[in-house]
Amino acid sequence: MTAGFQVSDGPLLLQARQVLTMVPRSDAIRNPPPKGDLNALRDRDADIVGLRENAVVHVEGGRIRSIGPMGDVAKKVRNRATVVECGVVVPGFIDCHTHTVFAGSRHDEFTLRNLGADYLDILEAGGGIHSTVEATRAAKKRTLAATLVQRCYEATRRGITTMEVKSGYGLALDHELKQLRAIEMARPEVLVDLESTFLGAHVVPTSHTDRREDYIASVIDEMIPKVAELGLARFVDVFCDKGAFDSDEARRILRAGMDHGMIPRLHADELTHAGAAELAAELGAASADHLEYVSDAAVAAMAAAGTVAVLLPGVNLFLGLERYAPARALLSGGVDVALATDFNPGTSPTQDLGLILTLACTGYGMTPGEALLGVTASAARALRLEDRGTLAVGKRADVTVLGVDDYWQLPYLAGRSHVEGVIRAGELVYWVSGDEIEA
Ligand code: NIG
Ligand code: FE
Repeated sequence: MTAGFQVSDGPLLLQARQVLTMVPRSDAIRNPPPKGDLNALRDRDADIVGLRENAVVHVEGGRIRSIGPMGDVAKKVRNRATVVECGVVVPGFIDCHTHTVFAGSRHDEFTLRNLGADYLDILEAGGGIHSTVEATRAAKKRTLAATLVQRCYEATRRGITTMEVKSGYGLALDHELKQLRAIEMARPEVLVDLESTFLGAHVVPTSHTDRREDYIASVIDEMIPKVAELGLARFVDVFCDKGAFDSDEARRILRAGMDHGMIPRLHADELTHAGAAELAAELGAASADHLEYVSDAAVAAMAAAGTVAVLLPGVNLFLGLERYAPARALLSGGVDVALATDFNPGTSPTQDLGLILTLACTGYGMTPGEALLGVTASAARALRLEDRGTLAVGKRADVTVLGVDDYWQLPYLAGRSHVEGVIRAGELVYWVSGDEIEA
């Protein structure tokens, strides 16, 4: 492996042991994996990730130009190309569910929970999300933006080229706007594409405990119209669960967002069965996220509606939840399953998408290919981004280069950063030396 390479305007040829195009060759993912038959399992996984061995990805002009054997690359391209030898090449990772704009830290709560305290009890007592709201309200916009920039560099080092970021720690018009504007401030400074989501309906703030209807009215009548007018969020999200908003409240809020041109998505059925996934399907939401308590009927409804399931196993790790979302039932039922970090100071204080891949394999019984599809093609679908998530001719050249011989090593060699290089829209933004290259 070279220690780095010069970026030029000419063609870039990534010559890889394995290229994962993430364009499945069949719908094998609908059938359960053949346990115990390793060859059949490898073949099935190769189909799922559209595996090409010893192939070259030709990047030029910010796009993927071709994928195939070196012999197929035209001589005149080869003659002027930068050629880089790689282990495994995948589409740039997409972290499609994060709460990356926040101030403060909840390490005290983390330790109390590990010693037996309950997440919802802490929330009800005014801690948890409320303590992050207090810290975030106290922070200046430029401080939030500066912290976000640092976190985006961390994401780049993890191979992430697109990241969704939610508001939801302001819970008042000005503070929600401040969070979303911090994203806008950070955007030109970072090496990752940011997709913004308005989550004013994260929880009812403590000031409104006895006036929840007033808070809902302010989300619907004040916040959503203002956020839409300023063009600050593509998505509208609601935490629909015990301790947050019920499905009728969520429906009203999401409909208001939709009326203002935002795409709905939901924190759904994480701690209890709240009818949230059913609502996601009813509204044709882009995604329903969490889903530990999703019903069988909702799985069928999500498949019919094309609503993507976004699973967040970091929450299982950090909350010690023993109940995992039914990933296999979702896949067999025809639902696309994406995976994300849910990076937030409470339930998933990690930006490590590699850890999420490992947890998806150990916790959901997903194969490495299924998990990788979850942080690429399916994550792009969850964000309704059609120009990325796969390595196919004409797609945006968002590419992550991984220093392993075989992609099955990714979730297995846990805790090591496998990322050697990141290319975003054809530009090299990170290489193994650890230095980010100027955007
Ligand atoms: O995605 N579930 C609701 N919201 C976040 C947690 C936020 C927090 O605890 O700060 C989540 O898990
Ligand atoms: Fe979340």
